[in-house]
This record gives sequence, C-alpha cells and structure tokens, in this order.
Amino acid sequence: MFYIKEGSIPEKRHTQHRSAAGDLFFEEHISREGFSSIYSNVYHHRMPTEVTSIGDFDNIRFIEDTGKHKNRHYFTKKLNLSGDLIDSRKLLFFNEDLSINKLTINSNMDYLYRNSHFDELIYIQSGEAIFLSNFGSIDLIPGDYLVIPKGVIWKIDVEDSLDCLLIESRGPVEVPGKYINRFGQLMEHSPFCERDIVTPRFQEPILQSDAHLKIRLQNGIQNYILKNHPFDIVGWDGFYYPWKLNINDFEPITGSIHQPPPVHQTFQGNGFVVCSFVSRLFDFHPDAIPSPYPHSNVDSDEVIFYSKGDFMSRNGIERESITFHPAGITHGPHPGKYEGSIGKKETKELAVMIDTFKPLKRSDGLDKIEDEKYSMSWNS
Ligand SMILES: [Fe+2]
Repeated sequence: MFYIKEGSIPEKRHTQHRSAAGDLFFEEHISREGFSSIYSNVYHHRMPTEVTSIGDFDNIRFIEDTGKHKNRHYFTKKLNLSGDLIDSRKLLFFNEDLSINKLTINSNMDYLYRNSHFDELIYIQSGEAIFLSNFGSIDLIPGDYLVIPKGVIWKIDVEDSLDCLLIESRGPVEVPGKYINRFGQLMEHSPFCERDIVTPRFQEPILQSDAHLKIRLQNGIQNYILKNHPFDIVGWDGFYYPWKLNINDFEPITGSIHQPPPVHQTFQGNGFVVCSFVSRLFDFHPDAIPSPYPHSNVDSDEVIFYSKGDFMSRNGIERESITFHPAGITHGPHPGKYEGSIGKKETKELAVMIDTFKPLKRSDGLDKIEDEKYSMSWNS
C-alpha cells in the first residue's frame, strides 16, 4: 500500500498534539509483525484503552461435512440468508489459512466489529452499503473487493440488502508482489493501479461513550463495552488502512493463445490466491482454443464464485453458483465446450476464483443447495 495522511496530525510523530482549546490528543500506533512492519498512527480525542465492561464470549464452531471426494456445485442463492454481519453468515469452506463465507446482510449492526485474528476480503455481489471505520468511510457497490486488515474497527450500514462473499484470512490479504516495483508502486504490467484503489474518506470524530464492540477471535466473539467510541479520531497517517478495488477496474490481460489463471490474479494471501475472471477478448492465434484445457493443479483446491454473465466453459451454472474442484481429480471444460470455443471472439463473464494450497474442508449444511448431478457432468 501507499502512504496516506488524513485529518489533523502533529508535525513529528510521538510529540504533543493538541486541540485549539489546548487539550491533548492521544496517539495510537497500529502495526503488523510487532513494531517491524506496516503501520499507521492515529490520534484520538480520548484514551483508546479504557473499557467499561467485558461481556459474553460467543463461541463459533466450524463443523466439517465429511463425505465423498468429488467435484461439487452449490447454488448459494438458495441459502436464503438474513440478518446482520454476524448472523447472516453461512460458512462454506475452511482450512488453517482461510474461511470462505456467504452473507446476505439485510439488517444494520448496532455494534462495532473488529476482527483480531483474520484479515477480511469482502466481494460485493449485489446491493449498496456504507463501510464505516476508525480510518473513515468507503461507499460499497457491486463488484467491490473490500480489504479490511485485522484490527480495523468497523461496521456496515446497508441500504437494503447486501449479498457478499467473505474470505477470512489468517495472514495478510495483499496486492500480489509480482505487480509491485522495489519502490512499492504498482507496475505498468499490473492489471490495476493506484488510481483504481479507493481509500477511506475521512469522517468527523465521534465523541460518544460506551460503544459496543464485538471482537472476532479464532473460536468466537468477545463482547466489550468501550468507554470511548473508537471513531473519535482527529487524524491519522501511514500505510495501514482498509481499501477497496472494483472488479470492473481490473484490466484483463489477453494473448494469442490461452492465458493461464495467474494473469487474472488480484490478491495474494498466506496459502491462497484470488483471481478475477472479467469480460475480455479471446485469444487471436488462428488455431487458438479459447476454452481452458483440462487441468490438474495438484497443489490446489479451487473454489469459483460465478458473479455475473456467461461462464463459457461450464453448463448449468447460475448467478451466485459456487463450484468446488478439489485436488486429486482432473477438471476442465464441460463436454462440447472445448471444441465449441474455437472461433469465439470474446467472453462476458464475472467470476472470483480462490485457489488454496492446503485442502479445504466443506462446512456442514450445504447438501440442500448442492447440484447432485455436477460431479458426473463431464461425461458425454
Ligand atoms: Fe480450474
């Protein structure tokens, strides 16, 4: 990420910063890897460490659905989810590095939220909302990827209903290193650049008392009442903050023959990558086969969320379908799609792919939305 300065900050860090009335502001240092990595310094009206009370700890259990090893297809639109950020959530897949969840948020949060053990990447499928945080606000529209580094305090106010895919990542969610030069700038060959990245709009500080904060931890949620509202910030600077990128600003890379998924890479995490398949012109070699070839990515489990449009290599896919192709069995285009793609000029599709490097476990409760015929659908 790049350096940002918002609001009022002192000329030198760790020095006195006062209001016009002479009151001292309180600096908070927010950093990764101890004090040895990316960080921001924020300035509060009030001391950010005071706690009014410590409430309940709500356990979260991840239950694995054991069963046959096979390719699977889920109609996630049929989940009929409802509620706020926490109770509208359905866990789909998980391993030691990440979890993948579907949400339909249709009620607003009467609390603030802080994920202390996972970075979050939220893909907005439909709906509009405002993301509010201690760093400022970001308007959310369909196609947005919202990156929320762990420790950010936030809430979402939805207009009506917000359908989204949420990845909780044990490690940082980052722009792929291959797109960044040694000065930290996105390079010419990157499919997006700094102009496409939206950073928080600074908000006036909130001076309220007794703010309810839910802190997401590995095994549950701890409720706190903070004495001072954590959005009481007069200014901040640094490299650490939430941000967004819209999938429609991802510029596809095409070639004369089939380009592999790494050209679609949008994010990197510890143990996974996220790729965006967007509308694009197909390959222009006279003998090109635009469809993907059958493939065995022997180190990866593959999850694809079909956001919009026609996905050219598959039959029976609907909007918000998810396919799961575990390592161990070859997958590829459906019968007729390989040959049928020859001569096609373009594709109109929008899909998000998550490739993990450790096996994924499937959450329980997905059988009712599963396409039972999918695993045998490659037979002609
Ligand atoms: Fe694949």
